[in-house]
Amino acid sequence: SLKIAVIGGGSSYTPELIEGLIEHYHEFPVKDLYLVDVEQGKEKLEIIGSLSRRMVERAGVPIRIHTTLDRKKAIKNANFVTTQIRVGQLEARSRDERIPLRYGCIGQETTGAGGFAKGLRTIPVILDICRDIEQLAPQAFLINFTNPAGMVTEAVLKYSDVRSIGLCNLPIGTKMQVAKIMDVDVSKVNIEIVGINHLNWAYNIQVNGIDVTWEVIEKFSKSRGLTVKNVPDLGWEPGFLESLGMLPCSYLRYYYLKDKMLEEQLQTLKTKGTRADTVKKVESELFELYKDPDLDIKPPQLEQRGGAYYSEAAINLMTSIYNNKRDIQAVNVKNNGIIPCLPHDASIEVNCVIGSDGASPVQLTQSVSPKVKGLLQVVKAYEELSVEAAVKGDYDCALHALTIHPLVGSSSVAKKILDDILEENKEYLPQF
Ligand code: G6P
Ligand code: MN
Repeated sequence: SLKIAVIGGGSSYTPELIEGLIEHYHEFPVKDLYLVDVEQGKEKLEIIGSLSRRMVERAGVPIRIHTTLDRKKAIKNANFVTTQIRVGQLEARSRDERIPLRYGCIGQETTGAGGFAKGLRTIPVILDICRDIEQLAPQAFLINFTNPAGMVTEAVLKYSDVRSIGLCNLPIGTKMQVAKIMDVDVSKVNIEIVGINHLNWAYNIQVNGIDVTWEVIEKFSKSRGLTVKNVPDLGWEPGFLESLGMLPCSYLRYYYLKDKMLEEQLQTLKTKGTRADTVKKVESELFELYKDPDLDIKPPQLEQRGGAYYSEAAINLMTSIYNNKRDIQAVNVKNNGIIPCLPHDASIEVNCVIGSDGASPVQLTQSVSPKVKGLLQVVKAYEELSVEAAVKGDYDCALHALTIHPLVGSSSVAKKILDDILEENKEYLPQF
């Protein structure tokens, strides 16, 4: 009997997951789905719980939906635990996005100083969840979506015994975009991913087994709209993708187009606020819809969020583990030498074989180009320092993490940002 615990079950993304579970019920027959949330999220949790029950009922699928604030009860003997939490809710995200902008730096939920702040708040909570899994469901797989997913995965690998895999929707999103632009079914597309979460590149792009990397790069170079909803689509500099020879993930715009992206963020801040402010509006609209007792499907309005295909990625992963499919999916795992220029115990995002033993990374078919190597190494070093800072509450680690980050890059700015982060997140950072 298959049991799943969703930590952060009151998230507006949950109906997406339910839809996926319904579609894949024939190969992934979940019996009990526990949606867990914290006291402040109780109301949302009940709304999501009721909608989920209506969805499975309409689909005629016998998944039992439980809502609870008791995390231990939910985790006990679960086969899979997924985490999609937001410590400090959207208010904290909004602060993360604003603080760096005050000092002329990119303000983003997962990338740069904003992601760093999110990591400090989130890692201790995730490790706490790991303690429960170690005790109550030691065989379970932890599927972590919680951002910054790469850093969180690394913390779990280093500081727990839990079998865990970090997941992001970008790799599957890139496959979908390639399928769209090449006008083929996504099942015909294969890509290789190298890098870490939200800082990776696709190459060796194949359609029906034929390498079409150059064609895809040319098309991406001229197209707009091939990005996640939450990252402004400023295109790429003419000829840039061609010179790179790989397809950068959307978040690499914050690095490759730092000045333009900063300008864009400062403009938007004046008119619409930060992305968190936009998401707040989308969320309240969504929850209004979710409350409607006649609604029994996932409403299309959910597509305004950046997490498109997130449930597909999650269900594909869990289904392949459950059925020992041994297919290839790009997820976050321990490096173990796959990317030789990164530490062995770092988390990386690469293609893995997915089976009942979890995710095993496959060898890369190309060596890591010097065009991306340095950036990858410095951001990974930033992540290493951030994980250590988050676990130990170490100010110096935190300061150096921010100082070396390419989107900060100055110890005086880093200090100002860090002090603001610590001040404005006091209640969520007991480790400092
Ligand atoms: C992307 C990322 C996710 C992130 C989401 C944010 O899809 O891969 O990790 O959570 O965007 O979307 P939002 O709608 O919250 O800005
Ligand atoms: Mn992601």
